[in-house]
Amino acid sequence: MNCPVTTDPARAAEVIRRGGLVALPTETVYGLGADATNPVAAAGIFAAKQRPFFDPLIVHLPSAAEVGRVASSVPELARRLAKKFWPGPLTLILPKQPVIPDIVTSGLETVGVRVPDHPLMQRVLELAGCPIAAPSANPFGRLSPTRAEHVLSLMGADIDLILDGGTCSVGVESTIIRVDGDVATILRPGGLSLEAISTVAGQVRIAAEESPTHPEAPGMLPQHYAPATPVVCYSGVPPLPSPGARWGLLSLKPVHQPGYAEARFLSESGNLLEAAARFFEALHELDRENLDQIVAESFPDEGLGRALNDRLKRAAATNRVARA
Ligand code: TXA
Ligand code: MG
Repeated sequence: MNCPVTTDPARAAEVIRRGGLVALPTETVYGLGADATNPVAAAGIFAAKQRPFFDPLIVHLPSAAEVGRVASSVPELARRLAKKFWPGPLTLILPKQPVIPDIVTSGLETVGVRVPDHPLMQRVLELAGCPIAAPSANPFGRLSPTRAEHVLSLMGADIDLILDGGTCSVGVESTIIRVDGDVATILRPGGLSLEAISTVAGQVRIAAEESPTHPEAPGMLPQHYAPATPVVCYSGVPPLPSPGARWGLLSLKPVHQPGYAEARFLSESGNLLEAAARFFEALHELDRENLDQIVAESFPDEGLGRALNDRLKRAAATNRVARA
């Protein structure tokens, strides 16, 4: 049975306060929220998502001024990044306060913190009065939701309520950054570009390709963000579909290639911000078309293209494993 859908942030805050699970809109993707100080509620997130307990949750706050509630210290560079980019698609890894239970951080001494930029989510955070732990509101390893309908079809039976805040404007998860002294390291590329981060942090490190068993951000497994349909990537001209096969095309700009059963183009002009906002939605649509395969164009390796390539690479990796 599916859960109710509402547009009332007060109702969502009430369910969170009582220890329930609510899908919440943010500017990046929909999150599956619970009271971050309540270990039983947080355990419910892992159960609903079938998420392994080694994969920590991001904790959301209504404003940067409240960071001291969940983080025991904030390095100078992290403070400058927060000042410039919060509210927004940036998660900072910071030493945690004891009020955040171990289940939220998977036993780590650090916590991922973010101030989201969405009016309804902000309202829920204010009304609930507690920090809210929220991973993306999809079953573990599957496509992230950018609309309330995605959450309803993926998780409607497993949660208490969905707060419908429309389509997510950024469309790809937050950029996760760890700060060591005056060095910023990107653990997960996301909705805030490396170029933007550099304006504050100077040179930015990108965490080396993590080993599958010891990634720096524990959620960065090679197989992730996957539609049920196999995904392959291409650069240049899309490959010609095999005769009789139902292939779907996903490309940055409109291209004409006969023989595809379905096609989705992410931006008329090739704009990467527009493409990110449409990316997961287009994959959800193609995934519903009973295709044999999704053929997806690699993005330019700049701006949000890096985050999109990261998601594509992981979607394609899942399929290699599934077919093996
Ligand atoms: O945009 C977003 O970040 C969305 C919205 C809902 O805020 N949330 C999101 O959460 O993408 P999730 O669970 O799908 O990804 C969170 C990832 C974890 O998989 C892990 O890699 C990283 O954040 N993370 C969380 N806490 C961490 C920590 N203490 N140290 C290192 N990585 C951490
Ligand atoms: Mg996720």
